[in-house]
Amino acid sequence: MGAFEHAEEAALWLQQKTGLKPRLAIVLGTGGGDATALLEQPVRIPFGDIPYFHVPSVLSHQGQLLIGTIHGIPVACLAGRFHTYEGLPMDAIVHPIRTLGRWGVQGVILTNAAGGIHPDHQAGDLSLIRDHINLMGKNPLTGPNDARFGPRFPDMLHAYDPAWRDLAKACSSELDIPLHEGVYVGLAGPNLETPAEYAFCHRIGGDLIGMSTVPEVIAARHMGLTVGAVSVVTNVCYPPERILETTHEDVVASVEGAKERLFRFLKAWVWAIGDQV
Ligand code: HPA
Repeated sequence: MGAFEHAEEAALWLQQKTGLKPRLAIVLGTGGGDATALLEQPVRIPFGDIPYFHVPSVLSHQGQLLIGTIHGIPVACLAGRFHTYEGLPMDAIVHPIRTLGRWGVQGVILTNAAGGIHPDHQAGDLSLIRDHINLMGKNPLTGPNDARFGPRFPDMLHAYDPAWRDLAKACSSELDIPLHEGVYVGLAGPNLETPAEYAFCHRIGGDLIGMSTVPEVIAARHMGLTVGAVSVVTNVCYPPERILETTHEDVVASVEGAKERLFRFLKAWVWAIGDQV
């Protein structure tokens, strides 16, 4: 059985188990795990119960699928995700997105924790992702293409949907929640980058840097899903004199500090998108 059959089986399992039909998916990354404050009346399903889902090895990732509503819009929220540094193949990393795509969601909003490699960034800032640079050295579409997912050579011009980005900016102004916009550079990790690597990623056009999101965006766009993404800047990494030693606990604490703002923003964004999905 291939990745398509796996996604199809997991989607059917979710359909039979819940009887629900979410229209939109949200992926909560590092530290964003507790989605209780985001969704109304969620049904919770541990990742381990869903066919072919792995269980995250990172403690700050919860590993649950929650299905509930935001302003009446049915949303499936992946609280936790998988990373290449966990040693998992790309198929396993994008299986949750492909499952939700086969279940019928029309679009996905991804969140992540990221290093800020723009001089204007401060820890705790939110930034919309406008585009990405894949420096992971891996791609979820490597290997024979399964045309039931999408084309061999999917276009990436509008990977991060321009209309959704406009809606996000409108929400941020309305809520008075400052929002940068920038290019996310995806690396394999798990180490944080050296000062030279941060400077390199800044020079090639990056504003944000992290170890996730890119594979999920590629798989989602391959399937024709609409994508939006937002980073929480957890540590500042450019210029080099601003870099401080950073632990995973620091990153989680930074997300924790931004979470109330992040969730308020996400709820407004989902509401604004609601009519379009
Ligand atoms: N680098 C990579 N990933 C990250 C960082 C970083 O500085 N901060 C949070 N996730």
